[in-house]
Amino acid sequence: MKTYSLALIPGDGIGVDVTNATMDVLNVAARRFGFALSPQSFPWSCEYYVETGAMMPEDGIETLRNFDAIYLGAVGWPDTVPDSVSLHGLLLPIRKAFMQYANIRPHRLLPKIEGPLKAEGFDILCIRENTEGEYAGAGGRVHQGTPNEVATEVSVFTRLGVERILRFAFEQARNRRGHLTSVTKSNAQKYSMVFWDEVTREIAEEYPDVTVSHMHIDAMAAKMVMTPQDLDVVVASNLFGDILTDLGAAIQGGLGLAASANISPDRANPSMFEPVHGSAPDIAGKNIANPIAAIWSGVMMLEHLGEATAAAAVLSAIETATGQGIGIRPGLNTTDEITTAIIAALEA
Ligand code: IPM
Ligand code: MN
Repeated sequence: MKTYSLALIPGDGIGVDVTNATMDVLNVAARRFGFALSPQSFPWSCEYYVETGAMMPEDGIETLRNFDAIYLGAVGWPDTVPDSVSLHGLLLPIRKAFMQYANIRPHRLLPKIEGPLKAEGFDILCIRENTEGEYAGAGGRVHQGTPNEVATEVSVFTRLGVERILRFAFEQARNRRGHLTSVTKSNAQKYSMVFWDEVTREIAEEYPDVTVSHMHIDAMAAKMVMTPQDLDVVVASNLFGDILTDLGAAIQGGLGLAASANISPDRANPSMFEPVHGSAPDIAGKNIANPIAAIWSGVMMLEHLGEATAAAAVLSAIETATGQGIGIRPGLNTTDEITTAIIAALEA
């Protein structure tokens, strides 16, 4: 039987709740569709930091390298570890070390979910650059605490990085409705964003079957609220994509529904799957976190592993559950109730 090795990093807060829910569902899918998941759990988290002084061991990346995929719940417990430390000690280094340059986030309404908008029929696939740009980590601080204090955070856009994310996005558009919207801010940022626009035009020539729109991030934010149904694939830099995908989560009914995959397209390294939401310390361990975002991220993991039929079945089980009114509003159902409903639909 085909067996996939999974590195599980439940992390902090509700990351633990939703990782458990996801594995419960995926194990049922595995049994039903004739493959096996072999998970190994790692306790890397803010608690681990408090105990050891690091978010993961020094050889953490090497440890993860040989798994077929990584599943991560959430990272962050700001009461004990500043977010800038915890995220730079675990999530962000994994994305960079494994060249998970394509962060894929789908935004659409599941059955019976009423988003905050009048618009209903939108189906957006956001492709976020995931290794450089505004998150490159170039910068520094000098003269701290003095009137001369200086802080810089330099965005870094490389031809390699921009070309590969654009090609990836064009491929997605080609396999969907054939439209790509590239989001920049080239009216104000005249080096990096003008460069991105130029590269978009170059790569577009390789994809005559894809139509391309160029939008500025501010106008795009408005468009996602006013006419999201006109969008197909959206590609953006690391920070712009981060912001737009929280907006995407909001219009699809909330962060509890927004899935995400950090893909390393050449498959030389494992990809990582995680819900868009964070650790939500206020509701951690209370059995009220919505596991749908996490389980949907699990669907993306099954797709990536090549288990397309199982992936489609789990997604359809999620849709059956929300279609029955389960998990469609915050607080309506417990984590367990939602998970049980999805498993029941999967077994039906
Ligand atoms: C996300 C998150 C992370 C990001 C944070 C936690 C560093 O907001 O995955 O969208 O900005 O990438
Ligand atoms: Mn984010």
